Amino acid sequence: MKPQTPTTDAGGCCSSGEAGAGACCATEPTVVAIASVPVEIQVKARYDELAGQGASTLCCSPQAVYTDEELAGIPSWVLELSSGCGSPLDAIALEPGQTVVDFGCGAGLDLLIAARRVGPAGRVIGIDGSMNMVKTARRAAAEMGLRNIDVRVGDIRRPPVRAETVDVLLSNCVLGMFPDKPEVLGAIATVLRPGGMAVISDVVYADGTPPVDVTTGDAATADDFARCVVGMTETEYRDMVLGAGFDRVDFRSDGLVPYRDGAQVTSAMIFAHRGTGEPARPCC
Ligand SMILES: C[S@@+](CC[C@H](N)C(=O)[O-])C[C@H]1O[C@@H](n2cnc3c(N)ncnc32)[C@H](O)[C@@H]1O
Repeated sequence: MKPQTPTTDAGGCCSSGEAGAGACCATEPTVVAIASVPVEIQVKARYDELAGQGASTLCCSPQAVYTDEELAGIPSWVLELSSGCGSPLDAIALEPGQTVVDFGCGAGLDLLIAARRVGPAGRVIGIDGSMNMVKTARRAAAEMGLRNIDVRVGDIRRPPVRAETVDVLLSNCVLGMFPDKPEVLGAIATVLRPGGMAVISDVVYADGTPPVDVTTGDAATADDFARCVVGMTETEYRDMVLGAGFDRVDFRSDGLVPYRDGAQVTSAMIFAHRGTGEPARPCC
């Protein structure tokens, strides 16, 4: 698939007007209009609501998937809103001075951890479609005094980041929410510099039958996408990533991880390399 050309503005972001656009046509019966709201818009609206409430009920509590060292010094209200399914930064080492981008950064936990590692010479850019999440992540960066973080509202399918400028792209429990994942992967391939790497935490299971709490694309509802329980097999995922403009893909299985709502999903870390980058280095 041909990578998308990113824009330099936040034109793809979901405004509250956009979220409501499908539901406000005066001449259509309400039930028809609601059914036509795309899954992606419903998902963003759900996270906007959670950020407004100040606590997530979705995905994993960070205490279940991050190390104590990673969580040290992070404000508790960021942890309440964190909605990942793994810790991408536990899987790699970052270098001081690198440029890191987080697609679907949410309340910003991975931004904060990355910013401490790349140091003042590095740059960490977060992108999220929910204005409430963006405000939360900006507040967290300010509270921790991390001036190398820049949080932008935008749609990761049309990311407000220049092409070929990113060393490491993170995405934690986000790709699984998109029915059209190759579209997002194409945008990731476009912003990564040659030799850059994406580290994606997602719901992926070893080939065979999905675990009981994981569904597959055909049966998935908007709620399943919002909860990130729509899983793929490793083989399906690898083929999809390679077809989206990457040159190599590696997996690290994190096994079953507990969700806040009691579900158990299979989480994996996917390392997607653009160009002839070095293999992913184990951290520390
Ligand atoms: C499961 S949460 C993960 C958040 C964060 N990565 C974390 O680990 O806490 C998914 C995030 O993706 C954001 N999101 C959903 N659709 C998006 C889109 N089209 N563009 C940008 N962000 C989006 C949501 O607002 C939400 O913050």
